Amino acid sequence: MEMTAERWKYLSEYMREVFAREDAVQSGVMARAERAGVPRIEVSPETGKFLEVIASIAGQGGPAKLALEFGTLAGYSAVWIARGMAKDGKLITIEMSSTHAAQAAETFRECGLSEKISIRPGRVLEVLPRIEKEIAPGSVDMVFIDALKSEYPRYFEAVLPLVRSGGVILFDNALASRWTMDMEPGRDADRDTVDELNRKLGSDQRVIACCVPIGNGVTMVRKR
Ligand SMILES: C[S@@+](CC[C@H](N)C(=O)[O-])C[C@H]1O[C@@H](n2cnc3c(N)ncnc32)[C@H](O)[C@@H]1O
Repeated sequence: MEMTAERWKYLSEYMREVFAREDAVQSGVMARAERAGVPRIEVSPETGKFLEVIASIAGQGGPAKLALEFGTLAGYSAVWIARGMAKDGKLITIEMSSTHAAQAAETFRECGLSEKISIRPGRVLEVLPRIEKEIAPGSVDMVFIDALKSEYPRYFEAVLPLVRSGGVILFDNALASRWTMDMEPGRDADRDTVDELNRKLGSDQRVIACCVPIGNGVTMVRKR
């Protein structure tokens, strides 16, 4: 099958319509956040649904019980993840913008998820060492990484010891952002960083890795 731009648009809309319909609360989240100045850089609904399904199987013999997210924005992806997790599961999400974090707190209230999701303000690489003091090494079932692309390689090395054997780490924007992976190397530093990370993960013996072409592309690895 030849993948034209028109066909890809149709297929994405098809996936959204058939598998990833938002409920009334979810569909209002980003519109409200946008009015408060939050940019529309959330994951697509079909990526969100993919995260929900992964969260529902990422635990030991069932849904994830402990998950981390880097890059909350207004909480859109966190809602999908939390809905897939165990009833008594806990999602810890890190966000450096106080405007975004305030909108996310509102989102979690609206969705009845304030107990399940904890927002940690600050930069991922500064907040993560504090979280490490609260949770045991090898206790995290799932990590969704969607913050600063230039820091993705450092996020991976920092979070890997916290993830249990069999746990999963997902990276958004694995194939595109304001760049696309088919651009010439050397034209966008983030593209080159993600390219290098994808290639490293593809042969990293600590994980089994693949890339799912949904939304902007999600690289998914399972810790051995
Ligand atoms: C692409 S958005 C996240 C989208 C969100 N995951 C969703 O789909 O709803 C990236 C977010 O990461 C935050 N961010 C960027 N760099 C960060 C860092 N170093 N530490 C924490 N948050 C960061 C930005 O403020 C922004 O809210």
